[in-house]
Amino acid sequence: MRNSRTNPPDWSASIPVSPEGGGRRAALYAAVRRTIETGGLAPGAKLPTTRELAARFGISRGAAVAAYEMLVADGFAEARVGAGTFVAARVPQFAETPRSPPPPPAREPAILPGTLGVGMEDERTARILRRLFDRRLARPTLHDRAYGDPRGTPALRAEIAAHLRAARGVKCSADHVIVTSGSQHGLDLVVRAALRPGEPVWIEDPCYPMALAALRGAGLAVTGVPVDGEGLSVAAGERLAPRARAVYVTPSHQFPLGVAMTMARRLELIDWAKRVGAWIVEDDYDSEFRHAGAPLASLQGIDDGGRVIHLGTFSKALSPALRVGWVVAPPELVEAIVEVRARSDRFAPRLVEDVLADLMREGHFAAHIRRSRRRAREGRDALVTGLAGTPLTVAVPDQGLHLIAELPDGLRDTDLVPAVLAAGLGVRALSSTYVAAPPRQGFVIGFSGFHSTDYEAAARRVGPVIERAIEMRRRSFQRRLAGE
Ligand SMILES: Cc1ncc(COP(=O)(O)O)c(C=O)c1O
Repeated sequence: MRNSRTNPPDWSASIPVSPEGGGRRAALYAAVRRTIETGGLAPGAKLPTTRELAARFGISRGAAVAAYEMLVADGFAEARVGAGTFVAARVPQFAETPRSPPPPPAREPAILPGTLGVGMEDERTARILRRLFDRRLARPTLHDRAYGDPRGTPALRAEIAAHLRAARGVKCSADHVIVTSGSQHGLDLVVRAALRPGEPVWIEDPCYPMALAALRGAGLAVTGVPVDGEGLSVAAGERLAPRARAVYVTPSHQFPLGVAMTMARRLELIDWAKRVGAWIVEDDYDSEFRHAGAPLASLQGIDDGGRVIHLGTFSKALSPALRVGWVVAPPELVEAIVEVRARSDRFAPRLVEDVLADLMREGHFAAHIRRSRRRAREGRDALVTGLAGTPLTVAVPDQGLHLIAELPDGLRDTDLVPAVLAAGLGVRALSSTYVAAPPRQGFVIGFSGFHSTDYEAAARRVGPVIERAIEMRRRSFQRRLAGE
């Protein structure tokens, strides 16, 4: 038998109708449903009239009617003509939604001497930046409070173009420059504007893993092309993926191996791109840091076919936390890239752009680079000194902010990374940067952002870790021999 009694008049007092989020109708629906599900209203119980409910909660009759309609539609209530609305005889039982495990607590990764990509610390630049931000904030213009140009501010684009023409031989004006949130963003924009999912592309092997992630993430068919002593092997690329539509390269300082692409190889790469109509994406990420030898011109600067898309960043010279970089695009690609940029995040943070333009225009950026280059060289030398007594083989780089330290034969870098990190040196396994080529075993170690003494001390602690690993390997080898 159905229980058709009217409920005690005050049952609804437990329903917190207002002010729950989602509007009155949704709040009333949720509250009555919760009361039914938790047994506060028995199956078959008569619900108050919508008139009573509206008066009780001070809501419109229409909201109460709509809530009841939702309860009926979802099977929690039944409307009987002329009799009113009742709790359904069989209330639906929804299986409890399986709970996914809670997300891991947000944890900042440890940053150690050696960790790659730490911004340059410079007290003087920090003081100047504070002053420039202060000046901008003290006199905001209307532009500072409005939507901006997806290409970036004209002032910053002009400064970047001037800097690149002078320092990198890049052939460009402000019209070719698009300010981005770092070169990662630049690569993503370029890929989406110039390529279609499924198209074949080349990447250096080994490579910068975040570039590989961007290309694969965009659905491109990525082929790792071996790097030799002259840079990416064009001949190998043509053999492995002859129909490639683009290539991502780090010609000034190959990441991670540190090779500078020779002029012969640069010309060969540009010739190939012109011949097949492919794009060359040149990531010029750390070119400000040339420590010895003649400065290398950019690939874009020697390209006479408009095939090179040049990416750059403030992440190395200043800090990755700024999230500002740039794309210098061939004229035919500029509009497509700007269009993708505008629809993804509109434009770059204006205040940061303004301050960077001031920093460059007033000559502080060039002075900062000179100081940072000196500091980076000191970091490199201290790291090399600290590693000198260890079993690692170190190639001293002429360029950039990281080096490669190779392990003795028979040791695997991924096995050793945890112990080296525990010893206080921030390293990345060299083998983890390979795509398909047989990986070399070693560590990629940075030298930016810490004092040179920190590098030397941390590097010295690594020697015993490697020696222990060599010893363990020797013993296990002897045990195997004895067992034979
Ligand atoms: C090869 C390479 N490209 C680019 C970057 C910089 O990326 P972003 O400008 O997105 O910070 C890095 C930083 O580690 C890098 O190693």
